[in-house]
Order: sequence, then C-alpha cells, then structure tokens
Amino acid sequence: MSGVKLDRVVKTYGAVQVVHGIDLHIKPKEFVVLVGPSGCGKSTTLRMIAGLEEISGGTIAIDGRVVNRVAPKDRDVAMVFQNYALYPHLSVAENIAFGLRIRRTPREEIRRSVAEVAEILGLTQYLERRPADLSGGQRQRVAMGRAIVRHPKVFLFDEPLSNLDAKLRTQMRAEIRRLHNRLGVTSIYVTHDQVEAMTLADRIVVMNGGRIEQIGTPMELFTNPANLFVAGFIGSPPMNQLRGRVVRDADGPAVMIRDIRVRLPRDVSVEDSQEVLLGVRPEHVLLAARSNATPVPISLDLVEPLGSEALLHAEIHGQPFVIKAPTQGDVGRFSGLDMIHLPAEELKVFDAETGRSLITHQVSGG
Ligand SMILES: Nc1ncnc2c1ncn2[C@@H]1O[C@H](COP(=O)(O)OP(=O)(O)OP(=O)(O)O)[C@@H](O)[C@H]1O
Ligand SMILES: [Mg+2]
Repeated sequence: MSGVKLDRVVKTYGAVQVVHGIDLHIKPKEFVVLVGPSGCGKSTTLRMIAGLEEISGGTIAIDGRVVNRVAPKDRDVAMVFQNYALYPHLSVAENIAFGLRIRRTPREEIRRSVAEVAEILGLTQYLERRPADLSGGQRQRVAMGRAIVRHPKVFLFDEPLSNLDAKLRTQMRAEIRRLHNRLGVTSIYVTHDQVEAMTLADRIVVMNGGRIEQIGTPMELFTNPANLFVAGFIGSPPMNQLRGRVVRDADGPAVMIRDIRVRLPRDVSVEDSQEVLLGVRPEHVLLAARSNATPVPISLDLVEPLGSEALLHAEIHGQPFVIKAPTQGDVGRFSGLDMIHLPAEELKVFDAETGRSLITHQVSGG
C-alpha cells in the first residue's frame, strides 16, 4: 500500500501563487480529506497529485517515488470527479471496463474484474443499462467502479457527491467509507463540506488561502482547533466567539465580557489584559448551574426546533451567541430562559490579533 508525500509544494499561475508551499504526509491506507472554502486550493492540490497540473515548486512522491515529472497515466492513481462524465453510448459494463480496454487487458480478465467491481458496488443488475437510465447515485457508483477496477495505488476524489441531493449524498458518503474500510486504498478526498470531512476522514486537512491551517483527526480538530479559522470551520453551528479581556488574579485566569467574568480552564497561556476571543461550542452550553461553570445572562431572541435538539439564538452584551440544547420533546421549556452556564473545561481562548489558540495542552497542527 502506498503513501503520498507533499513537500513544500507550490503552484503559481503566471505571477499569481495559489498554493504556498504545503507539506502533507499521507500514510498508506489512510483516508485524508482536504477541506476549506471555495478557491483555497483544494482541487489544484489534488490535480497536482494526479499530474493534471504541473508543480511550480517542491516535490510530490507516491509510494516513495518522486512523480514530479511522471505522466498522469503512469502515476497509478484514479480520480473521481463531481461531473462523473460517463460515456452515454456505452453500457455500465463497458463504462467500467473502459480503462482496462485501452490498456489492452485480456477480455476474460476484464469480464471477471467488471463482475467483481459491480458486485462490490451493487451494480450487477444494471450492467447492460446506459447511464441515462440510471439514478444520480447509481451513475456516481459507475464512476467509482471505473476507478476501482484499475486497482490504483491511490484514489483521488474531487467533490464526488456534490451533484447529488442531500439524502443520496448522506447514503453515498457512508458507501464510500465502507468501500474504503473494505479495500483499504489510500484516498485523498476534496470537499468544502465540513460534515463530509468529519464523517469520512481518518485525518482532515483544513486549507485556507493556499495554506494548511491544521491537520488532525476529526475529533482533534473539533476539540482543539489551532486557530479561529479552524474553530469557525469545523462544527455546525460553528463555535461562538465572544470578545473580551483577560484578568488574572488569585482565582486563576478569567475573561471579562464587559461586567461578566467568565472563568477559564487552567491550561491557558494568557497575559493580564490581553484581548481575546472566548470560544464556546453551542453544544457545550449548560442550561442548569454546575460547579466550575460560570453563569452568564443572555437575551434569547429566537428558538429553532430541530427535533430532539433546538438552536437558541441569543445575545450576550450585544454579541451573537448560539446554543444547542436538547428539547426533551418540548421547546416551551426554553421560554423565559435568561441565564446559561459556561463550563470552564470546555472553553477555548484565542488571541484576538493572531487568531491563535491559547490553550496549552493542544497538539499543534500544520
Ligand atoms: N488555470 C488557472 N489560472 C489561474 N488561476 C487559477 C487557475 N485554476 C485555478 N486558479 C485559482 O487558484 C485558486 C485555487 O483554485 P482551486 O480550484 O484549487 O480551489 P478549490 O479550493 O478547489 O475551490 P472550490 O471549492 O471552489 O472548488 C483559485 O483562486 C482559482 O481562481
Ligand atoms: Mg475545487
């Protein structure tokens, strides 16, 4: 099984640099997701790995071999795109077999491989159909079949699910992960959808403006975001950010949000009167008092029921604040809510100027 190594990889178009020297070491069999906002360089990075874009600087190695000057067809990677671009006049079987045919694979071997892949993807009964007579999800599976049948060293996916409706997307997402668990092929997957990243990845790479903000497991990024960008990108709804100023005294570190004094966890590296943003996940807010949790008055503005949970939109001294709380079957329980409680051990703190996390136990990213 094959790893993929990017070292100081740069991409420039004319005078414009769009990827600024990224380092990324992907282990054999790993499922890595590149996530970030539109234009941050995800597709460009993936296409450089595939060999579809030239590399302006640095090196890319697949399975220990530098491939900077290796043609795409000789890199032994298979790519699945958003527009799966099946051949409309060919059957499902012929579409899956296409790559093997142009490689002059013996007929009997093609037949066996196509049957095996169709079985894995649940396409056996559709092998004689044309793409036009399939659903979107089935077409996407054919596109994956085309990639799988070649037994590549690495799968590259560029937003393969974004043409599907929400329900099918969730279903196909689980199928892709099951397929990975079964085949164990090193996979690099691009999406701008943080839920897709969280659910699919062994490790997530958060990109922004052609740079890597943080690399980590989904839970590492959720629990210990290295900076405000990652804190705002991973998690839904995003982490609340309350502007305040640090005070340090005998009681330990705290943040003043005007007259409200919020106790911080012990493992923060903050200076007295430092300007910070206090990070609070909507799901970590408590509605009932508890020791080591600071009571904070809120003004509740809107309740959005989601079913078992509700989103409560509120303000704290004019700063927007969202709470995710269990409904226990009745959103009436939130009426008149004017106090919440912030548990010290769940709070994050970021430098207001640099955006960096000031929590000291965290593993650093990048
Ligand atoms: N051929 C090109 N010439 C000039 N600039 C380009 C070219 N291709 C891409 N870019 C620029 O490079 C940057 C990164 O593009 P890229 O397609 O990698 O973004 P992305 O992260 O995949 O975004 P999206 O989520 O919208 O697909 C963008 O600013 C884009 O405008
Ligand atoms: Mg893209």
